[in-house]
Amino acid sequence: MPPLRTDPPLSWLQRYSAPVHVVIPLGLYVQMALLAGVASAPGAYAATRAWALTDSWAPPLRVLAGCCLAWGAYFSYTVCVIFVAAAFRVITRARSPLGTFSYHSAAALRWASYNAIGLLVRYTCVNFIRVTPLLSLFHRMMGMKIGKRVLINTAIVADSNLIEIGDDTMIGGDATVVAHAAERGMLVMAPVRIGRRVTVGLMSVIFPGVTIGDDAVIASHAVLPKGTQVGPGEIWGGVPAKKIGDVGSRRAGTSGGAAAS
Ligand SMILES: CC(C)(COP(=O)(O)OP(=O)(O)OC[C@H]1O[C@@H](n2cnc3c(N)ncnc32)[C@H](O)[C@@H]1OP(=O)(O)O)[C@@H](O)C(=O)NCCC(=O)NCCS
Repeated sequence: MPPLRTDPPLSWLQRYSAPVHVVIPLGLYVQMALLAGVASAPGAYAATRAWALTDSWAPPLRVLAGCCLAWGAYFSYTVCVIFVAAAFRVITRARSPLGTFSYHSAAALRWASYNAIGLLVRYTCVNFIRVTPLLSLFHRMMGMKIGKRVLINTAIVADSNLIEIGDDTMIGGDATVVAHAAERGMLVMAPVRIGRRVTVGLMSVIFPGVTIGDDAVIASHAVLPKGTQVGPGEIWGGVPAKKIGDVGSRRAGTSGGAAAS
């Protein structure tokens, strides 16, 4: 019996996958340490200068002052890292590439190094700036086309340069918005377009290639698989998400409910 499937020859990145996956993160750690170090410096400097002024204070008061100064330095880092990370992104012209490619490819490495910049912000401080204009500004600086008065109440946004969000849209708590999907050995990258005045529900998941029309509502916990097209004013919910109504009929007080496709 001939084999059902012949494995394609391995690329050098696949052949040396283990060492590459050790070396690349080490390189990214150096990059992240530099960015985090630069972003930490202003707050750390101000805090140590202020700490020196407390030299003559009673020990309990000094401890209290030290704790407050340390937290102040951390929040200073939170603001600074957004600009430091974004400046690094602009200087290095890092971006998530479009297309479909192997996990073990140069394009996947480009994708990983771009998203590592966002991960630094996500895992060190982003929860403190959710919903604030600072988070929208960060994504704009990372390459997102983002409208006015957009509220992003989630840390889980990746591939900002492939995402477009229209004016007055709300991305609900802990929703996931990504323009990549890792599937069957390949990284699938496609733009995500979210229109104006859209509500993206709490903990919903928006995959690559999804388009959401103006005024649409994505129900909480909905999962929109890659390439889903949501029309203007439609309400979608479920896993995988389906149309469950229309905003217009709900406003008019009539049930659009599950009758829709
Ligand atoms: C989908 C949603 C808009 C429906 O709200 P609504 O228009 O007031 O309608 P109802 O609550 O009366 O529900 C209408 C239908 O939708 C269904 N439905 C409600 N929430 C749903 C959800 N999360 N997923 C799937 N179906 C849902 C209901 O079961 C009902 O079905 P039926 O008509 O067959 O009985 C709302 O439940 C929702 O998820 N909003 C998102 C809010 C959000 O997460 N905001 C951002 C963070 S705070």
